[in-house]
Amino acid sequence: MSGAGVITVDGPAASGKGTIAAGLGRLYGLPVLDSGLLYRAVGVLLQQAGGDLGDEAAAVAVARTLRPEALDNDLFRTRGAGEAASRVAVHPQVRQVLLTLQRDFAAQPGGAVLDGRDMGTVICPTAGAKLYVTARPEVRAERRWRQLTGQGEAVSLEEILADIRVRDARDSGRATAPMAPAPDAVLLDTSEMTIDQAADAARRIVEAARARQAP
Ligand code: CDP
Repeated sequence: MSGAGVITVDGPAASGKGTIAAGLGRLYGLPVLDSGLLYRAVGVLLQQAGGDLGDEAAAVAVARTLRPEALDNDLFRTRGAGEAASRVAVHPQVRQVLLTLQRDFAAQPGGAVLDGRDMGTVICPTAGAKLYVTARPEVRAERRWRQLTGQGEAVSLEEILADIRVRDARDSGRATAPMAPAPDAVLLDTSEMTIDQAADAARRIVEAARARQAP
């Protein structure tokens, strides 16, 4: 696994990592994988089939049927989908099934940008540049609330803040691939940043990492 051209962007819910990853992809002309969508799709499709999110074997069966081209679906971007995703993401065998797909994406010639929770720790530990994007829970809740109400969901800011706290605890407390910064990731706190400021800070982190690797 080489990974020199790979940029990993990990961090908690609504920290700004998706926007940062998309911006880096555009800037460097790299394909972007939003790995959260894989878990969201498994959770939503399992629920649609009448399955139980706690049933590991059923979740594995759904994960095996995932087609990357079918992920861009608004059904996977709801509040409920985020919650379902984090519940199926605790299953080690679900993570194992999704591993190959993610590693193949990372191995594309020229590199890729990977957005998630364990991109820099598990999926591509050899990535040339690693970011861990955070923001205060209250700031993240407000961003997610704006996004979800903009999509037409009726939900309060307090409910979203509670969701975020539950999800942070579940994602960082699980036994397999817990959400955590890789030892060589650079932390980027976007609490006080605009989108443009965060994008610019991310670009500088990537350029510094690449400069360190240059022969
Ligand atoms: O957009 P947001 O940050 O809310 O969530 P997401 O990135 O779409 O991820 C949804 C959930 O999937 C997370 O809360 C994690 O439980 C899980 N996930 C994961 O376990 N590993 C990843 N690489 C990506 C997401």
